[in-house]
Amino acid sequence: MSEDARIEEVAAKWKDVPGSLIMALHEVQEKLGYVPRETAMELAKEMHVPLARIYEVLTFYSFFKLTPPGKHKVQVCLGTACYLKGAAKLVEELKDQLKINEGETTEDGMFELELVRCVGCCGLAPVVVIGEKVYGNVEPAEIASILSEYEK
Ligand code: FES
Repeated sequence: MSEDARIEEVAAKWKDVPGSLIMALHEVQEKLGYVPRETAMELAKEMHVPLARIYEVLTFYSFFKLTPPGKHKVQVCLGTACYLKGAAKLVEELKDQLKINEGETTEDGMFELELVRCVGCCGLAPVVVIGEKVYGNVEPAEIASILSEYEK
């Protein structure tokens, strides 16, 4: 089934349900992993909703992604314990090294950066999670070598 056909299907399902734009966008993201611009345009047309309204929703909720997911999801915990132990510095280091902001994917598609709340390993604060692997007591100076494990 082509992507257009799938978007038509999503739009047909939701367009007559009041207040359902967010549900339609959730469904798109579930299918594609993010909401590409062309898809947002197609959805606007099919659901008779202004494109600006779609982008209002997409940019209001940090859950929605406008870029394709990276091969490796890098999550930095900003829960209280991690925050108090310097997680904000890890975020800055990651943004610098990856040259992306929160919610974005690196140009080569290798990494995406996500900021999360407590991941349940507060005793290891500050914590970075890459894929399934948890890194505890992380220092900004260790970020480069952690990332290099995934660049091979
Ligand atoms: S606050 Fe970071 S793991 Fe709990």
